[in-house]
Amino acid sequence: MVPQIKTFEEYKEQYELSVNDPEAFWGNIAENFEWKKKWNSVLEWNFSAPDIKWFNGGKLNITENCLDRHQAARKNQTAIIWEPNDANDAARHITYGELFLYVQQFANVLLAQDVKKGDRVCIYLPMIPEAAVAMLACARIGAIHSVVFAGFSAQSLADRINDASCKLLITADSMMRGEKKIDLKKIADDAMLTTPGINKCIVFNHKSSPVQMKPERDLWLHELLSKVNSTHTAEVMESEDPLFILYTSGSTGKPKGVLHTTAGYMVYSAYTFKNVFQYKDQDVFCCTADVGWVTGHTYIVYGPLLNGAVTLMFEGIPTYPDPGRFWNIIEKHKVNIFYTAPTAIRSLQLYGLQPVKGKDLSSLKVLGSVGEPINEEAWQWYHKNIGNGNCPIVDTWWQTETGGILISPLAHITPLKPAFATLPLPGIQPVLVDQKGNEITGNGVEGNLCIKFPWPGIARSLYGNHERFRTTYFSTYQNKYFTGDGCKRDEDGYYRITGRVDDVINVSGHRIGTGEVEDAIDEHNCVIESAVVAYPHEVKGQALYAFVICDRDIHNKEAVYLQIKNHVAKVIGPFARPDKIQIVKALPKTRSGKIMRRILRKIAEGDITNLGDISTLLDPAVVDAIVAGAAGLNEKNS
Ligand code: WTA
Repeated sequence: MVPQIKTFEEYKEQYELSVNDPEAFWGNIAENFEWKKKWNSVLEWNFSAPDIKWFNGGKLNITENCLDRHQAARKNQTAIIWEPNDANDAARHITYGELFLYVQQFANVLLAQDVKKGDRVCIYLPMIPEAAVAMLACARIGAIHSVVFAGFSAQSLADRINDASCKLLITADSMMRGEKKIDLKKIADDAMLTTPGINKCIVFNHKSSPVQMKPERDLWLHELLSKVNSTHTAEVMESEDPLFILYTSGSTGKPKGVLHTTAGYMVYSAYTFKNVFQYKDQDVFCCTADVGWVTGHTYIVYGPLLNGAVTLMFEGIPTYPDPGRFWNIIEKHKVNIFYTAPTAIRSLQLYGLQPVKGKDLSSLKVLGSVGEPINEEAWQWYHKNIGNGNCPIVDTWWQTETGGILISPLAHITPLKPAFATLPLPGIQPVLVDQKGNEITGNGVEGNLCIKFPWPGIARSLYGNHERFRTTYFSTYQNKYFTGDGCKRDEDGYYRITGRVDDVINVSGHRIGTGEVEDAIDEHNCVIESAVVAYPHEVKGQALYAFVICDRDIHNKEAVYLQIKNHVAKVIGPFARPDKIQIVKALPKTRSGKIMRRILRKIAEGDITNLGDISTLLDPAVVDAIVAGAAGLNEKNS
C-alpha cells in the first residue's frame, strides 16, 4: 500500500527528501505497486526537448493494480457506488469482484472488435459506472482511451475523434442531467458523419431511448458482453506506454490532446489521492467532477481504485431535484470525503441554509475544492455549514497536464489558510518567475507559476504534436514547466493561485480557450471578427463576454445575440455559450493589428475609469464607442 504521511513534521521531512533525492523518494513509493518487471531507472529527463521518462524499463498494467491486486482482500468490498440522476432510482453498488469481472468482459469485447494495443478508443458516456469500466477495459488491453465530456457537441466530439484517429467509439443511447434529456447516440451519429476512422460504435443501453443503429457499425454492449468469456490476462505495458489522451483548451488554436503514460501517472495518482485526502480504509470518497475531465480520471477512477477505495459517482447535478441534492447524497451514502468545485458551492450558497437544514452530514471528515480559485466567502460557507467547522478544506491546485494535485494542504496535517492552496506536495518544486523569466525568490511575492523539476504525473506530450507541447509549456521559461497561472507566495511561503495569465478562461471550472469560442462565433454568417474576454461572475467565477463585428447593420440585436450563443453551444457545447455579447463597429487594435484584450477586459469588468495607456492604438476613438455601447447593453443579454 502507498505510504501515508501522518504529521506536518513528516511532511517536511518527506518534502526535503523528495527534493534532495527525488529518485530515492519516488522509487520507494513505486515499490508499493505490482510490477511485471522492475524499472531500470527511476527518472530520465530534460525539459528542453522535452523528454521525460519515469520508471523506464518497467513493465506493468495499471488495471492489475486497480483490480487484480485487490481481489484477495476486497472482493466483496464496494468499489463504486453509483448515485443516479433521479433520486428515486436505485443506487448501484459494485464490488471489487464485480468490477474485475466486468472489466475483463469489456476488455474481451474490445478485443473481439479488433481493438489492439496502442489503438485509440473514444469514450462519450454519461456519469455511469460503464464509463470507468470502459476506461479500465482500454487500459487492460493497452488501448489508449480518450474520454470526451458528454456536454460537448457533435462537432467537438468529431474533432477530438479525428485528432486522435480513434477507431472505436463507446457511447450510450441517452442520458439525463437534471430534467434535461441528452440524446447522446444522436449526437454521436452526427459526429460519425465526419469521422472516417471510426469502424465500430458500441452503445450502452442506459435509458432504453429509441436510437438508430447503423448495421455493421453500431453494436449493443449487452449483446457483445453475452458473447465473450469472463477472464482476460492483462496486456503487459511498458512504463512509458500511453495510458490516455484528454483534450483541454489552451490560449490559442484547437484543443490539445494531453498525453499521459502508464507508470508515472499510476504512482502519482495513487500517492496524491492517499495523502491529500488522507484516505483511510473503507472511507467513502465522493468527487462530483465528471469523468470527462481530468479530475474524474484521477480522483474518481484511477486514484481511488489504485488504493482499494470506495468511490462514489454521481450522475446528476447539484440542484436536481432540489438544491439539497449533494447534502442528501452525503447523508444517504455516509460520505467521508467530499470533493467539489467552488462554482458548485457558490451556486448552492445562493439558496441559503434551508437545503442543508436537518441533513446529517456528520460522516464528513474532509472537504475538497478544485478547478478554480475558491473565494474566501465560499470557503467560509463550505467550512462552516457543510464541514461543521471541523473538516479541513483541501484547496487542490492542479491541471489536466499535471495528472494529479501539485499544491494542496494534506487534510488534518497542513495548517490551513482560507483561499490558499498552501504548500507543494512532496516532489513538487514550484517557482515564481517575473516577465523576464527571472526566478523571484523570498516570500511576500507574486509572479507566474512554473515547476522546475519533473514529477511522475506530468504529461509527456500533446498527442500528435510534440512541438506544440514544447512551445506551450517549456519554451516560455528555460528549463521550467510553465503552468499558465499567476500565483502569490505570502510571508509564510504559502501559495495562492490568482488565476490564468493567458487567454484561457475558467467558466464554472471548465477550461475554455478564447480562440475556440472566437472561431465558433466567427462562423456565424453575419460576423466578421470577434474577441472574447472574461469578466468576474458571482457563481461561475468567470463568464464570457464577446465583442463582435458584423458585416451589416443589425436591427434586432437580441435575435442575433441569441443566434450567436446558440451557435457556440452547437459548435463547442452549451457550457461555452457567451454570457454577454456586444456588437461593435471596430475592435481596439495596435498598429500591428493585435487586439488589445487588456482594454476589452476592463470594459467587460465595468472598470472604465482607468483603461491604461491607449496611445498605441491604431484608432483610440474605438474605445469610446465600445464603452458607450457596453453601457447600453440590455441586462437580458447577460
Ligand atoms: C485552475 C483541473 C485555483 C487553474 C484540475 C489551472 C485552480 C486550471 C485550482 C486547470 C485551484 C485548478 N485554485 N485555480 N485549487 N485548480 N485551477 O486542466 O487556472 O481543467 O491552470 O484541471 O484550473 O484546469 P484543468
